[in-house]
Amino acid sequence: MGRPPPTLPAGELVLKEALSKKSQEKAHAVIVFSRKNIERAEQEAIRLTGRRIAGATAVILILGLLFSAALARSISRPIQRMARATKELAQNNLDHRIPVNRSDELGRLAGDFNHMAERLGELDKLKNDFVSMVTHELRSPLSAIETYASLITEEWRNGDSADLVDHLTTIRNNATRLGRFVNNILDVAKIESKALDVRKEKISVALAFKDQLDLFYARAKEKNITLSADPAVADVTVFADPDKLAQILTNLVGNALKFTPPDGQVRLSSKAGVFRGRAAHVRLSVADTGPGIAAKDQERIFNRFEQVAEIRDKMKGQKGTGLGLAITKGLVEVQGGTITVESEPGRGSVFSVYLPEE
Ligand SMILES: Nc1ncnc2c1ncn2[C@@H]1O[C@H](COP(=O)(O)OP(=O)(O)OP(=O)(O)O)[C@@H](O)[C@H]1O
Ligand SMILES: [Mg+2]
Repeated sequence: MGRPPPTLPAGELVLKEALSKKSQEKAHAVIVFSRKNIERAEQEAIRLTGRRIAGATAVILILGLLFSAALARSISRPIQRMARATKELAQNNLDHRIPVNRSDELGRLAGDFNHMAERLGELDKLKNDFVSMVTHELRSPLSAIETYASLITEEWRNGDSADLVDHLTTIRNNATRLGRFVNNILDVAKIESKALDVRKEKISVALAFKDQLDLFYARAKEKNITLSADPAVADVTVFADPDKLAQILTNLVGNALKFTPPDGQVRLSSKAGVFRGRAAHVRLSVADTGPGIAAKDQERIFNRFEQVAEIRDKMKGQKGTGLGLAITKGLVEVQGGTITVESEPGRGSVFSVYLPEE
């Protein structure tokens, strides 16, 4: 057994080796702490820790404040920009855009806003074009009718009636043009407001084609164009509205005859059992040997008032208004069908309408 540890000076760590290397006895290591020192050390440690916590809290707080300020700024600035842009749009400044320089929700919102502003600009332009086109198309035949009516009155008073028939023919042509334009505008309005009344029934394609051959016989003859229908259509039927089908074909055959130069050909054909999606459709085609349409124009000619400038410039007589195909497309789509064009400049065009078989 070892001896009791000796009294040692307070606060000192004493390590005593009580075992002589020779004796092989156990050694005592005695560690003594002074309470005062311990308390002082404790308080020092608490103060230090407190200071560190306060420092860290202050840093976190400052960083937090800076971060929140930056976040608030990064959210409020784009919202302010958007509010400003909305005001600009409301004041009809449709060219105003928001810079898109981020890829989060606010960036996407700004992109969508710009897209909406772009569409509004397009619609505004369309509206202006529409108004100026309508004004022009109403004004010019009306003023021609007025002019020729005055001319007839004047010539009649002077006892000169040599050109009477010519003048009356001009008046009649302009009245027809006016009437057609007003009807087209009414059709466009009906299509746009979805107010078309569709009454479908089973129609013989052969009969529908024959009506077109009869209707356009004189016009085709005038230009020496061979207008024919494929005999294979005999048994084909389509489920459609008869008036609308007639209007569709009249527009397409009318265009083909109008744009095909003399001595050309216009041919009507059809094919049943063509699948568009899951339903069986009948394909009705009008092919011509006209000027053809460049790929870049093939989609836009189905929009209102769109014409191919090169084709229009070469045309003699009445140039039309570019409403026929827009109406045709509307009439096809309201019956659950689609319309396509295959064409190449210099190689003619084939307009095909796909209508449900039943
Ligand atoms: N068969 C065709 N061959 C060549 N170009 C065509 C043919 N059909 C239509 N186009 C082009 O498409 C344009 C639009 O045709 P659409 O029938 O809509 O108008 P339009 O015939 O010019 O005028 P509207 O039909 O109002 O009298 C035409 O102006 C023409 O440039
Ligand atoms: Mg037309």
